[in-house]
Amino acid sequence: MLTETLKKKGYKIFRNYPFIDREEEINFLKEYFKETPQRILFIYGPKSTGKTTLIEYVIEKELKEKGYWINYLNLRRTLLATYENFIYSFFEEAKDETETELNRTYDLKIFKLEAKTLKKIKERRINLFAELIRQFEKIKEKKIFIIDEIQVLEDIYVNGEKELLKEFLNFCVTLTKETHLAHVVILTSNTIFLNRIYNDSKLKETSDFKLIEHPEKEIIVKMLKDLGYNNTQIELAIDYYGTIISRFFKMYQHVKPQDSIEKLKEYLDKEKLDAKMQIIEILKRYKKYNLDKDAYELFIKTAKKIINTGLNFKDLNEKEIDLMDVFCEKEILFFDPQTGIITPNSRIYLKAMEDFIKER
Ligand SMILES: Nc1ncnc2c1ncn2[C@@H]1O[C@H](COP(=O)(O)OP(=O)(O)O)[C@@H](O)[C@H]1O
Ligand SMILES: [Mg+2]
Repeated sequence: MLTETLKKKGYKIFRNYPFIDREEEINFLKEYFKETPQRILFIYGPKSTGKTTLIEYVIEKELKEKGYWINYLNLRRTLLATYENFIYSFFEEAKDETETELNRTYDLKIFKLEAKTLKKIKERRINLFAELIRQFEKIKEKKIFIIDEIQVLEDIYVNGEKELLKEFLNFCVTLTKETHLAHVVILTSNTIFLNRIYNDSKLKETSDFKLIEHPEKEIIVKMLKDLGYNNTQIELAIDYYGTIISRFFKMYQHVKPQDSIEKLKEYLDKEKLDAKMQIIEILKRYKKYNLDKDAYELFIKTAKKIINTGLNFKDLNEKEIDLMDVFCEKEILFFDPQTGIITPNSRIYLKAMEDFIKER
């Protein structure tokens, strides 16, 4: 229903679903990839703004036919984050010794390697990244290497040490700044993680940062109108959700345009309650997260600032930073490393925070 309705109105369809807007971001990426690789591109933004969807759309609809060589790795979709799985996301075993050239049957590319070389990499007798550079050097086409949910790498141990992420980032610097062999795009919603990178002077200097926000209000208003909602319904829904696309798609499943405004309000209030319960759940478990006993009070104090005046990371004391870190890690709040400003991940959390404060 949703897809058909919007398709008729001229919306793009991507994977059997409407694809909304993102003109600016698509053009940005197309232009970016035309240049010689110089820096790592970090794409970041609150959870569910559409980072993964955007990059997958660009790969499939804009780049694949233009002869780019693309290796795309989504670490959240990898079943188990281990060093071995990480290796297999780049390489597979060639069946015989003559078959070591690139495997061109894959949509997204992967390197073929002799079994004995692969074994040496697993045993760390050959450095994975040195081998990858050798492989990249062999490819003639313009290369793009994309990795989503990079923070997962932080948790992979190699020989009891957490060095993989550091090595990986060095490899990305080599690919871009040093050898200009490939574009590197790294995606994450976890900006506490990104902040560590942002504060590493070497990486900051060798990286670009692109924020992907929730869409503009006009775009969502138009989409809701195209779905058949009236102005009152639209205003109410945007007051709760802001402009987070996926929530409106879900809303359409539950409350149709012909349903009453009361039904819509009831649905949205339930969503808000849900968001509030997530906040309470975190505060209740403060011990697990090593939060202080007065986490509730501290949360109220910081939440008030977020709602009323805006909150900057640099104004926080150590205790407040710990608390905000947890809420950012849980993707209820969002922290922009470029400005230091902390905001709710989407408007529904702002509404939930307002309720939470009122009730205390
Ligand atoms: N441009 C878009 N048009 C339509 N739906 C989108 C768009 N971007 C994201 N979505 C939907 O929103 C949800 C979250 O998107 P996702 O790409 O996973 O966000 P992120 O990677 O930023 O967390 C998905 O269900 C996706 O289908
Ligand atoms: Mg994503």
